[in-house]
Amino acid sequence: MRNVTLEQVFMHPITQKYLQRSGIAHAVAVAEYAYIFAKRFKVNPDHATKAALLHDIGHYTWYRDGEWDYDLYKENDIHAIKGASRAHKLLIRIGEDRHAAKQIAVAILLHTDSYLPEGELELKPLQQVVHLADEADEETGGNHHYKTIEAHVALERIRALDTQIEKETSPEPVREII
Ligand SMILES: [Fe+2]
Repeated sequence: MRNVTLEQVFMHPITQKYLQRSGIAHAVAVAEYAYIFAKRFKVNPDHATKAALLHDIGHYTWYRDGEWDYDLYKENDIHAIKGASRAHKLLIRIGEDRHAAKQIAVAILLHTDSYLPEGELELKPLQQVVHLADEADEETGGNHHYKTIEAHVALERIRALDTQIEKETSPEPVREII
């Protein structure tokens, strides 16, 4: 039994506030990809989908004269660091298991290396899953952040993921032998 569902994470006002910036449609799609990749890499689908859903909540709005300034963003962005911290705080607040909250936060921290100096980063399977899921939904020019989705459709898709994960993570019922 999970402490916290994906729906609880998704519906929280903090999640809703920050996902408006980076795109709810992108977050939902990345969570779905993460579910698929989690199976392939044999990682916990609950952790993978939560990290994927929250991976971009650290975005700041880089506006100059009313328009998104991509250069300003590239130069100053630390959304993975900010997102990891925000996600961790949120998860702990809503009662997530501490170990899970840390795994999820670290996967968010490492979902991109765009803010790190050049070098080799060796990702663990959960971190790899979130990174691949994000890449799978990426569009040129950052267009994935501008895709739209109706609120009820987003919620239905999140609930569908919850149902799948619940089935896989709850223990088999014990059959009584008479
Ligand atoms: Fe992303």
